[in-house]
Amino acid sequence: MMDQPQNTASFGFSDVPAPEKEGMVRAVFDSVAENYDLMNDLMSGGVHRIWKSVLLDRLNPQPGQALLDVAGGTGDIAIGFLQRAAERPERGREAARAMVCDINHAMMVAGISRKDAQKFGCQITRICGNAEELPLPENIVDAYTIGFGIRNVTHMDRALEEAYRVLKRGGRFVCLEFSHPVIETMQKIYDSYSFNVIPRLGEVVAKDRASYQYLVESIRRFPKQDAFATRISAAGFSRVSYENLSGGIAALHYGWKL
Ligand SMILES: C[S@@+](CC[C@H](N)C(=O)[O-])C[C@H]1O[C@@H](n2cnc3c(N)ncnc32)[C@H](O)[C@@H]1O
Repeated sequence: MMDQPQNTASFGFSDVPAPEKEGMVRAVFDSVAENYDLMNDLMSGGVHRIWKSVLLDRLNPQPGQALLDVAGGTGDIAIGFLQRAAERPERGREAARAMVCDINHAMMVAGISRKDAQKFGCQITRICGNAEELPLPENIVDAYTIGFGIRNVTHMDRALEEAYRVLKRGGRFVCLEFSHPVIETMQKIYDSYSFNVIPRLGEVVAKDRASYQYLVESIRRFPKQDAFATRISAAGFSRVSYENLSGGIAALHYGWKL
């Protein structure tokens, strides 16, 4: 990863004044919200569903648990969490609950109309808020997830500290993010696909090339697996580890608040 000049934040391959990044990211997701789920399926050939399914396997959701899914967008991780928890024996425990927190109102509105969200009506709470300053008290959730979100946050370390703050002792942090392929040939194929195909898909399907150009550039600026794991540890988490998915195109990062 390139060094970040002071008081700037990366926005794709550009460095912008840090206070401006949040508004620019918000504009990207305002623009893509309506087509977000469709574009996710098209760009990844549905593979993002498999990655999210692995995330949920690792979390092993249970009745009685509370999840906070930050940068939750249309809410698929939260919905998956509630579906999995509902399949487990109740054993006197209450139904699981999930909060979706996102800075972008349009993304959460797009999530309300999802059919799979409707049966969980009152088990899901949607909160408009910033990952860097969560509008929640400390020690309240059993699990914190952030899927393809932390890359968009202006000050990632603040978001990691906030994740630590809101988790209960014994709670688990799981971050799913695009990462860096571990095999060089794979990196070349992936670069060619992402720089040539994804912006074009964005242009044709979502009528927005620039937002998808931002997506591929922001992935390249995201820290490598080990560097990001170090930052998770610096926020206070224990037993920090990661797991590469699809050869490192994405990675799951784990930590515990012990
Ligand atoms: C690529 S989408 C991911 C949505 C969903 N988690 C998924 O996996 O499909 C990134 C989301 O991060 C949200 N976001 C960006 N910056 C944020 C911030 N500082 N705090 C909370 N959400 C943020 C965006 O509004 C957007 O909904």
